[in-house]
Amino acid sequence: MHLTERQVADFQRDGCVFPIRVMSAADAAGYRRRLEQHEAIAGAPLQGNLRHKTHLLFTWADELVHHPAILEAVADVIGPDILCWTTNFFIKEPSSAGFVSWHQDSTYWGLDPADVVTAWVAFTDATPENGYMQFIPGTHTVDQLPHLDTFHRDNLLSRGQEIAVEVDKSKAVGIGLQAGEMSIHHIKLVHGSEPNRSPDRRIGFAIRYIPTYVRQTKVRDSAMLVHGTDEYHHFDYEPRPHADMDAGALAAHAEAVERQVKALYQGTDKHEFRA
Ligand code: NI
Repeated sequence: MHLTERQVADFQRDGCVFPIRVMSAADAAGYRRRLEQHEAIAGAPLQGNLRHKTHLLFTWADELVHHPAILEAVADVIGPDILCWTTNFFIKEPSSAGFVSWHQDSTYWGLDPADVVTAWVAFTDATPENGYMQFIPGTHTVDQLPHLDTFHRDNLLSRGQEIAVEVDKSKAVGIGLQAGEMSIHHIKLVHGSEPNRSPDRRIGFAIRYIPTYVRQTKVRDSAMLVHGTDEYHHFDYEPRPHADMDAGALAAHAEAVERQVKALYQGTDKHEFRA
């Protein structure tokens, strides 16, 4: 066990557990530096498709999805046989308008059953000022709620989807994290976040983990086995990158993202992730 019994009980009751220290602040700063080295060479912040399934592109991101402290904590809530389904960077630039509307992750993912969790790893501190994630405790046990697609420009979600019914924000709890800590949240938890009003970036790396028995109901999908064994073979396997953005990594990423876009944007005319 990496989590305490109390932390596992918190997750089961609230749909979220935090903070969980998984690395030092210095190590988190090291991951941020690797990301920003790439951005400096590219001449722009990580954008579009590169923000998604990023662990297929960079060896340091691959290292993170295999990080023992992260995986052991995740295994305490979903069991030892684990696939990494995807990763998503949630980067909020200093004093920027980007936000995340209230939503349930389960809305467009096509995964069944809903035994799916996100390990949200803080590369920087996450605070009220810089737009930390907020959630409504216990909402992971309610049914799927109706969502509206807004495609709002500043919304960081794929479709700008937001819950179409009233969310009782008076019950919201903020997930304050220090760099190197993470939270774990359930796929059906109602959550969202406000813009970054601070002078520094807020960087979170969301790793989506599923037990091997979960199915993708929309497309033939791919994922990476990161812990334990897979008796089900519901997903094709994605290769680990050998070098940052080499030809093999770029090809594997492109193929995996194409499948994911097909699932997430089903019923729309979109063929890639929004910038
Ligand atoms: Ni979400």
